[in-house]
Amino acid sequence: MDKDLSNYREVYQKGALLENNIPENPIELFRNWFLQADNDSSVHEANAMAVSTIGLDQFPKTRVVLLKRFTWEGFIFYTNYNSEKGKAIAQNPKVCLSFFWPALERQIIIKGKAEKLAKNLSDGYFESRPDGSKLGAWASQQSEKIATREALDKQLETVTKQFEGAAIPRPAHWGGYLVKPISMEFWQGRPNRMHDRICYQLDKEYNWIISRLQP
Ligand SMILES: Cc1cc2nc3c(=O)[nH]c(=O)nc-3n(C[C@H](O)[C@H](O)[C@H](O)COP(=O)(O)O)c2cc1C
Repeated sequence: MDKDLSNYREVYQKGALLENNIPENPIELFRNWFLQADNDSSVHEANAMAVSTIGLDQFPKTRVVLLKRFTWEGFIFYTNYNSEKGKAIAQNPKVCLSFFWPALERQIIIKGKAEKLAKNLSDGYFESRPDGSKLGAWASQQSEKIATREALDKQLETVTKQFEGAAIPRPAHWGGYLVKPISMEFWQGRPNRMHDRICYQLDKEYNWIISRLQP
């Protein structure tokens, strides 16, 4: 099998990222870019982001999750705390989040530390989910092996019966992570591969230091 992709090439020319036009706080820039992505009809699931962790096997692993909230503190997503990523974060909370919005020729890479969200906030979000998603959180031991699809469907059937006519509480093993950023890199594609890269890094006094990186 051989498929040559060496002629796949895009010219990036939709924007520029210049120092005279950026806020001091990277979360504000994130907000501007996110809102643009979210309002662009050609961007599907603007809140989908890759989360990379260092696993118990010391290998990095990246998977996509949905960003559910961002605040001045950081970025929140929800998952199963016993999943592969949950175990990885328990051992090493240093994670990397990345967004790629091809329609805007933009990428954002965030390094930070993940911490479990306060239980009442996870409860609040869980409560807002449709019943099907709530049951799914109970029915799946995320990242564990299972013999067959039928066995998985059976697990959903079992919990559906179990909670019939009752409120579905948040499982203790399911909740949010808040990722507090220590660096945020914004990438804007430019012609001739001379892309703009602006990196914000937190110093010891918690000031954001802005640098331009070569493409
Ligand atoms: C678009 C998209 C959104 C997803 N959102 C979530 C999410 O918010 N939370 C989650 O736990 N998994 C989500 N997943 C599934 C994860 O990619 C992954 O399969 C799962 O979390 C198990 O990962 P792990 O075994 O590495 O822990 C999403 C997948 C896709 C493609």
